[in-house]
Amino acid sequence: MDKILIRGGKPLKGEVHVRGAKNAALPLMAASLLAEGPCVLHNLPCLHDVFTMDKILSGMGVEIEFTGRYMTLTTPDTARPEAPYDLVRKMRASFFVLGPLLARFGRARVSLPGGCAIGTRPVDIHLKGLEALGARIRIDEGYVAAEGRLEGADVTLPFPSVGATENVMMAACRAEGVTRLNNAAREPEIEDLARFLNAMGARISGAGTDLITVVGVDTLQGVEHAIMPDRIEAGTFLAAAAGTHGDVTVMNARAEHITAFLDKLREAGAEVEVHGQHIRVAARNGLKAVDVATAPYPGFATDLQAQTMAVLTCADGVSRITETVFENRFMQASELTRMGADIALDGNTAVVRGVDHLSGAPVMASDLRASAALVIAGLMATRGETAVARVYHIDRGYERIEERLAALGADLERVRE
Ligand code: UD1
Repeated sequence: MDKILIRGGKPLKGEVHVRGAKNAALPLMAASLLAEGPCVLHNLPCLHDVFTMDKILSGMGVEIEFTGRYMTLTTPDTARPEAPYDLVRKMRASFFVLGPLLARFGRARVSLPGGCAIGTRPVDIHLKGLEALGARIRIDEGYVAAEGRLEGADVTLPFPSVGATENVMMAACRAEGVTRLNNAAREPEIEDLARFLNAMGARISGAGTDLITVVGVDTLQGVEHAIMPDRIEAGTFLAAAAGTHGDVTVMNARAEHITAFLDKLREAGAEVEVHGQHIRVAARNGLKAVDVATAPYPGFATDLQAQTMAVLTCADGVSRITETVFENRFMQASELTRMGADIALDGNTAVVRGVDHLSGAPVMASDLRASAALVIAGLMATRGETAVARVYHIDRGYERIEERLAALGADLERVRE
């Protein structure tokens, strides 16, 4: 298993290009199941999660060509609407195939997901939403077996779940009649998905707001689509810049997608400049403590919480970080403490007392964003070497992170054990 070895203490400097968004790519790949012709996705990131979705779709009989930067997906009428446990357990986003399969084939059998170790993460909201559209659902030996002709309905989500919003929106595209999805999640990835579906011939309005209306259509055709830039990847590089007192510009990013995060960096004393699609963060002086509470979009992204905690370990003062989206999403805290951070957990709040410096240590990645936080902490550590184990978590969501950080002046390498 690979490790990343980091000799920290160097400010990151330079420019880095952001890849296509993982959290847009996965639902877009699933949505291609709805089209009766080939779909082409551009700007696809080369990530393990993308390879997993590729395997799930190929296993159903979807014809896929992947050249590294774009992917063509063609779903024949003969595809088998089934997603097996072996693949679905690796990635919760596999569950996104349920809505499109049901809408296109009238039935689906999809394993219940596993995914990151960040709380119980049930799929009840997805299932209730699809049932409201008329799906008959039963749980059978760890699988969700769904069938039925879908009809438009008024659906109110009890919580603005990103995945449930996407699953119900995709299913509603081919349901008969009008669906109104209330308390929908507003994440930019949902807007990207709606743009793709509308280009296919769907009739979706309101994506990006909390009321999405979908007028069902009979058929959807294949289209080409360029995936939006990854806002979490952009935020991760900018957090690394702030934490190392560096000066980094992320290119091809959308500042308006991470407003809450950039506002916190400013409040902590970092310089933040936005020029069109480039975002520059510089932190020549030390940072000040700030309080952060995660929330559904447009609030502070839970996917940037761990990286922000790493940055705040050396800020001047006491920061309080409250996680409201997931339970049990402070897996990075105990590992950061092993590097010298002072973090006390109190329910869903972490109290981070700024320390003078971090020291390198062997640490273990536990989930995707926690592992990004450990890499940032390793880059910040002014003494010793950090060895981040279980790097496969990082590879789920960051493309060749060590090479891109090295290009910013970091001293790190991947080693094979
Ligand atoms: C998506 C993102 C993930 C991000 C999360 C929140 C993708 C591929 N993943 O995950 O990176 O961290 O949004 O921004 O886009 N919940 C239920 N029942 C459900 C569904 C969700 O209780 O049926 C709960 C979850 O346990 C969690 C919260 O709702 O506590 C948010 O989950 P959700 O918005 O659904 O996240 P995902 O779509 O899984």
